[in-house]
Amino acid sequence: MSQRPYIVGNWKMNGSRAMLAEARAIDRAAQRYPDVEIALAPPYPFIGALRDAVSAIGVGGQDCHTAAKGAHTGDVSAAMLADIGADFVILGHSERRRDHGEGDALVRAKAEAALAAGLGVIVCVGETLEERDAGKAEAVVARQVEGSVPAGEGAAVAAGRLALAYEPVWAIGTGRVAAVEDVIAMHAAVREKLAAIYGEDADKIRILYGGSVNGENAAGLLGAEGVGGALVGGASLTADAFLPIVAAASQPEG
Ligand code: PGA
Repeated sequence: MSQRPYIVGNWKMNGSRAMLAEARAIDRAAQRYPDVEIALAPPYPFIGALRDAVSAIGVGGQDCHTAAKGAHTGDVSAAMLADIGADFVILGHSERRRDHGEGDALVRAKAEAALAAGLGVIVCVGETLEERDAGKAEAVVARQVEGSVPAGEGAAVAAGRLALAYEPVWAIGTGRVAAVEDVIAMHAAVREKLAAIYGEDADKIRILYGGSVNGENAAGLLGAEGVGGALVGGASLTADAFLPIVAAASQPEG
């Protein structure tokens, strides 16, 4: 697989017009790392301005509705994200599963809507601490993958524009990063599940790790077998914190 590592910053509900300066700094530096695919996902109000502020990095949303338009107060459609210049959308993040009761079937419907709108999709999966302690982590994650990714007729389209993010819930924003061996084992399990769904096309799908990734631990995580990139929360909010992660992903030839 010769895909570039994919480093995605998820700003969550953080951001301001002033913070676009961080995005500009990340974008300027991105030109030094052509072997890494870099993207930022700010809150809705900043997507358009961030899009206009950058040229070398991708821009995405953090959620979308299943419908293209209509009577859904407060929601935003995938078509709107595409229209404002977004390249992709993050779906099924554990904070949305927790705060908004999103389940696998809804995540799948959103993913199908996003693909239909021409967006790339990052589907997030991950177990809670209770599930890991009960020895159910792989089964839980496999079930989430199976239920959340586009299947059936959409599968062929999906494989080319889909990424998975494995984010153990207990590692998100806690400073508690998963052990590299556990990440390797889980990424292999996710890969196996994707192969069962997409066949050979599964090779096109990058599997990212997320959960307390920072400049110090990035090299170990990104160098691990089967890790195709990182979904970064807290450490994506400033160029100073984010760029060392990008640098760790970069492996210039020679
Ligand atoms: P974190 O968040 O890097 O702040 O742990 C990761 C994520 O939730 O995507």
